[in-house]
Amino acid sequence: MKKSESEAAEYFSKDFEWEELRSEVESNPSLRHHFQSFSHSSTQSPESDVQAWKQFHTRHSSGKFFKERRYLLKEFPQLLSSSHPNSIPQKLLEVGCGNGSTILPILRANKDIVVYACDCSDETLAKAKEIINENSNAVDSFNIRFHPFCCDFSTTGFPNWLACNPCRDNFLQKQSYYFSDVKDDKGMHLRDSCSSEEIDCCIGGVDFITLIFTLSAVPLERMPRSIEECFTVLKPGGMVLFRDYGLYDMTMLRFEPDKRVGFREYMRSDGTRSYFFCLNTVRSLFLGAGFIELELDYCCVKSVNRRKGKSMQRVWVHAKFQKPVLS
Ligand SMILES: C[S@@+](CC[C@H](N)C(=O)[O-])C[C@H]1O[C@@H](n2cnc3c(N)ncnc32)[C@H](O)[C@@H]1O
Repeated sequence: MKKSESEAAEYFSKDFEWEELRSEVESNPSLRHHFQSFSHSSTQSPESDVQAWKQFHTRHSSGKFFKERRYLLKEFPQLLSSSHPNSIPQKLLEVGCGNGSTILPILRANKDIVVYACDCSDETLAKAKEIINENSNAVDSFNIRFHPFCCDFSTTGFPNWLACNPCRDNFLQKQSYYFSDVKDDKGMHLRDSCSSEEIDCCIGGVDFITLIFTLSAVPLERMPRSIEECFTVLKPGGMVLFRDYGLYDMTMLRFEPDKRVGFREYMRSDGTRSYFFCLNTVRSLFLGAGFIELELDYCCVKSVNRRKGKSMQRVWVHAKFQKPVLS
């Protein structure tokens, strides 16, 4: 099997049923602390959350953690789609890009895509730029299509130049028009007119957002606002491509009881957080912000640590959500 095929097989396969894992976990008394209710989440300030990630990136500045997520192109083939019919390039926003593990394979595989990428750490953005620059070639300079910027999307949202306030309002007005008077063509007649617009005030929103192992780093209470922000900077018809930790993933079950900071929320010793999603939580976050569900499922993969001879049950949530097509 070629490397790319084995990667695809690894990530698409359903090695076990999530329901079976759930009943195993929930009947194991030694794991009881993971699903006991939690009276209130213990929060730290948004500045401390950001600081913890900054320190994380400083500690891992060698870039050793960098591993291209090539399998994402198999999971989200729309990332390979070429530009709009009027040759306006597709725009992607990668949220919480780290050192660029998600971005590089996309830039490599799709020469028509322009990537905007944010992170709350300047240092990791600089590292991502360096890695992407090193991987450019004479024919295709990835840096020209790569636009990093620093922001904490869970508190300040995204900058106005992605989609300025009048444009955001415009999206919303068209949205309410769509919901109040759904046309037979589901708004397709409006979609083309907007996607071909060249907008002077901002870049006019993005076609795709990738949220890959980033939402789990945000405290649960700030997740609804974070997803609403994604909604506002997407073009109508645009999609969020989501992958993150799933409930009862092996890494969740390894947390000691004192690492719990909320229901299904944990804090590592370095202050970074991790939330573990069930399908209903993901669904209600996205539908609550106005998205349409296209795909949502657990991805259950058994991986073997050959050195230790141990089998590990990994659980991720894979999802695609779409902003209604209305313009
Ligand atoms: C687990 S890494 C995922 C990196 C990348 N998406 C990937 O596929 O490898 C999570 C990233 O989100 C960033 N991050 C965490 N909270 C953030 C926030 N509120 N706003 C922006 N970035 C954030 C972290 O600095 C980190 O680089």
